[in-house]
Amino acid sequence: MSVAIVMGSASDAGVMEGAVEALREFDVPVEVRVLSAHRTPDDALAFARDAAGRGIRVLIAGAGGAAHLGGVLAAVTPLPVIAVPIALANLGGLDSLLSMVQMPAGVPVATVAINGARNAGLLAVRILALSDEALARALEAQRQSMAAKVRAADEEIRARFHDSGAGAP
Ligand code: RP5
Repeated sequence: MSVAIVMGSASDAGVMEGAVEALREFDVPVEVRVLSAHRTPDDALAFARDAAGRGIRVLIAGAGGAAHLGGVLAAVTPLPVIAVPIALANLGGLDSLLSMVQMPAGVPVATVAINGARNAGLLAVRILALSDEALARALEAQRQSMAAKVRAADEEIRARFHDSGAGAP
C-alpha cells in the first residue's frame, strides 16, 4: 500500500516535497517520479496504467502552467488522483489551478490549493486511513495535536492582550 507522487518537472520538487514529508510523517511508503504529460506522455500513461497493479493506492500529481498531468493520469487509472497546482513565475499558479480543477464530468481529479502539496499528502493519508485503523488513529492524534497548538496560541494571545489590561476580559 503506497502513494505515488508524480511531478511534471524536477523544478517542481521543492513544492512537492511537502507531500513527501506529510506521507513520511505517517510512515506511508512513497514513490516519487518526474513524468510529463506533454514531454513524456507515453511514460506518464504507462505509469498510471500499471500503478494500481503495483500496489499504489493514490496518485498525487504536481505540475505548473498548462498543468494537464493529473487529468492525464486520471484518464487511465481507477485510482484517486490528487492534483497540486504549482505556481510559476508568470501567472502565479492561477493557470495551473484552472488547468487542473476544470476536469470534465466522469474523470475526477481532487485539486488542492496552489502549492498545497502538504494537504495533498494529508488527503492521501485520509484515503488510506479508510481501510487502515492504525493510520486512522495516527491521523486522529495529529488532529488533536494541531488543536492543542491552536489552544496554546489562544492562551498566549489572551494573556498578551487581555491580562496586560489592553482589552476586554
Ligand atoms: C510543467 O512546466 C512542470 O510541471 C513545471 O512546473 C513547468 C516548468 O517545467 P521545466 O521548464 O522546469 O521543466 O510541465
